[in-house]
Amino acid sequence: MNYSLQFKDAWPSIRVSLLSEQKYGALVNNFADVERVTRELEQLDAVDFISEASRKARRLQQDSVAERAEREESTSQEAPGECQNAVQAAEAPPPLSAPITSNIKCYTFPRGDVTRFRPARPDTLGILSYYLMDAASLLPVLALNVQPDEFVLDLCAAPGGKTLGILQTGFCGYLAANDVSVSRTKRLYQILNSYVPKQIRETVCITSWDGRNWGEREGGTFHKVLVDVPCTTDRHSVMEEENNIFNRRRSKERQMLPMLQLQLLVAGILATKPRGEVVYSTCSLSQLQNEYVIERAIEIAETEFNIGTRVEDLSHFRTLFQDTFSFSSDCRLGELVLPHLTANFGPMYFCKLRRV
Ligand SMILES: C[S@@+](CC[C@H](N)C(=O)[O-])C[C@H]1O[C@@H](n2cnc3c(N)ncnc32)[C@H](O)[C@@H]1O
Repeated sequence: MNYSLQFKDAWPSIRVSLLSEQKYGALVNNFADVERVTRELEQLDAVDFISEASRKARRLQQDSVAERAEREESTSQEAPGECQNAVQAAEAPPPLSAPITSNIKCYTFPRGDVTRFRPARPDTLGILSYYLMDAASLLPVLALNVQPDEFVLDLCAAPGGKTLGILQTGFCGYLAANDVSVSRTKRLYQILNSYVPKQIRETVCITSWDGRNWGEREGGTFHKVLVDVPCTTDRHSVMEEENNIFNRRRSKERQMLPMLQLQLLVAGILATKPRGEVVYSTCSLSQLQNEYVIERAIEIAETEFNIGTRVEDLSHFRTLFQDTFSFSSDCRLGELVLPHLTANFGPMYFCKLRRV
């Protein structure tokens, strides 16, 4: 009922997609035999959607440079002198924001192709060659845009798909992965054991703290913070009876989710260095758990902690990844991947804040 009001005519299509089999992506494990695994995945006609997007970004960048040069040439003939600069400034296209630069590779089957990947096999060193996940879950990791030697915090990390994605960049100077749930943290250990060599694994600091208190422990320390909060997990909730968050027994917990999400996001902001960045993400379609949490966190950071934050524009994600994912066109803050029968990933909401 709630989502039919929010999405109106689009809801039946989103609903039927949520009720249909979800698509997966194969995140290539850069610690395994990359050449062999990429060759095998390409033989299946799967495509690395991230390198496709990088190619698209380069093409768009070149087109815009060429267009600008053409325009400058024509204005220099028409409008000499001071006036010419003003014309150029007004007409110059905005540069394509931060193209996707990362070592992360993730293979998906093209739109409309519902082929499934086989479970990954261990390589000669016993390391698994790829990790199957909702490919949209990598978008928050890409939005984090980890740069060499940066300090990164994954505040709600278990079972660890995004932590593994962050490690694939090979860039972290220091990575802290935290999750309040001890049993889920064990799954994080298992994933790292199966995918990451011991010497890298041992550099990851794994903790089971309540993330809401993180700022008090290590405030202002990290260049990048990922806050992938607990949410109504919409796809899981429409399909699974067991432990369903919409079960009456869990009403209180469900009603308190936006408050928990807000507290975690504020803690994430406090953990970030000035000019550092926080990516907030959920796998819910709910505005109450997405945009409203962002708005309220910005307000609280400002009024209670005197910390200014700014929402970063991620609209280039829509341009670059539209061949793989179906994006909502009316998400006020951040980006939302909508489940679609031809591209049945998500839901995945992500929004980036910069501490200013
Ligand atoms: C959406 S899941 C995270 C998924 C994970 N990032 C991944 O990609 O595999 C949300 C996680 O938040 C954890 N969580 C819930 N409350 C928390 C808290 N107060 N502090 C830290 N983690 C919390 C849950 O245990 C759960 O594992």
